[in-house]
Amino acid sequence: MRYKILIRLLLIFMSLCVLYREYQFSPKKLQMTYQCWSVRNQPEPQMSMNWFNSKNNKNSIYKRMRTTSWSAPIVWTDTYNESVLKMYYKKHPVTVGLIVFAVGSYLWYYLGNFLTSANTFFMVDQRVIIYVMLDDFAFMPLINLNRLRTLKVFKVKRQKRWQDISMMRMKIISEHITDHIQYEVDYVFCMDVDQTFKSSYGLETLGDSVAQLHTYWYREDPDLVPFERNESSDAYIPMGEGDFYYHAAVFGGTASQVLKITKECAKGIMNDKKNNIEAIWHDESHLNKYFFLHKPTKLLSPEFCWDLRKSKTDDIKTVKLSWSFKNYDYLRQQI
Ligand SMILES: *[C@@H]1O[C@H](CO)[C@@H](O)[C@H](O)[C@H]1NC(C)=O
Ligand SMILES: *[C@@H]1O[C@H](CO)[C@@H](O)[C@H](O)[C@H]1NC(C)=O
Repeated sequence: MRYKILIRLLLIFMSLCVLYREYQFSPKKLQMTYQCWSVRNQPEPQMSMNWFNSKNNKNSIYKRMRTTSWSAPIVWTDTYNESVLKMYYKKHPVTVGLIVFAVGSYLWYYLGNFLTSANTFFMVDQRVIIYVMLDDFAFMPLINLNRLRTLKVFKVKRQKRWQDISMMRMKIISEHITDHIQYEVDYVFCMDVDQTFKSSYGLETLGDSVAQLHTYWYREDPDLVPFERNESSDAYIPMGEGDFYYHAAVFGGTASQVLKITKECAKGIMNDKKNNIEAIWHDESHLNKYFFLHKPTKLLSPEFCWDLRKSKTDDIKTVKLSWSFKNYDYLRQQI
């Protein structure tokens, strides 16, 4: 008996040695192993599942469009069935990433509030990894997150102007998705830090590529919105074209789609730099160009990113995320 056990142990030991030789461990490989366990690439729920009510409400004063000309849903707070979505994602669990940049005065001024409100309202009952990109660890606020949330903090280089921060953001996000985020989450959102979650912001927002309608421009004719109109810029959108003006304060999708979005935007920004031109709304202009060429699969109504200084129109039932704006201009000058 003993002898048999010894032989078995020896065999196991030898096979382990062989394995070790063939498979030297590296963090990359470990991440890829982890990927098999955690990231499943679930398809998003189809419209046929009745999670979304695309019928326009005739009683509304304003036209609340619910689908785009390319058949993507425009999600308003009363268009989705939360219990259908909850059942779907219970069977197909996902991990959602949330990337936020907080540098200069934005770090100490806004980050705490953003994180606290995200902990309460962002993807309740789902697994979330929050990626904080900051320029000074000393100002990282201590926040108690609930058990389904993980915080990962990274340091980024400080830029002189906020325009450069927001433009560098695209490049940095694409690098982090390539290095690790794609192995850690199914979906990922990129959000500005000067915002506060006000109510449940959940599964209804998940999609392959997700764009945010802008509070100021969502009912405007595309010819009147501030797309980049200079042909020398990569972000150029000709008059008479363009669908909606999207707000760069919120965009998202699957990790692979957000990688494409951020890579393309970073490329456009770099080309513009080479040609000595800066698009009128910086990274937002390039994001609009991207979504003009590659239509988003889901649009979020302005309820998902509302400016509370603007009086609520009839379309706005529930504000889910709002702009924070104390001393906004002062803060921008401080960076
Ligand atoms: C949501 O869907 C469930 C299951 O199909 C249904 O029972 C319920 O009535 C729906 N709720 C609304 C508000 O439509
Ligand atoms: C477009 O930008 C270039 C470079 O900044 C500038 O020289 C040119 O005058 C601009 N064209 C228009 C129509 O504004």
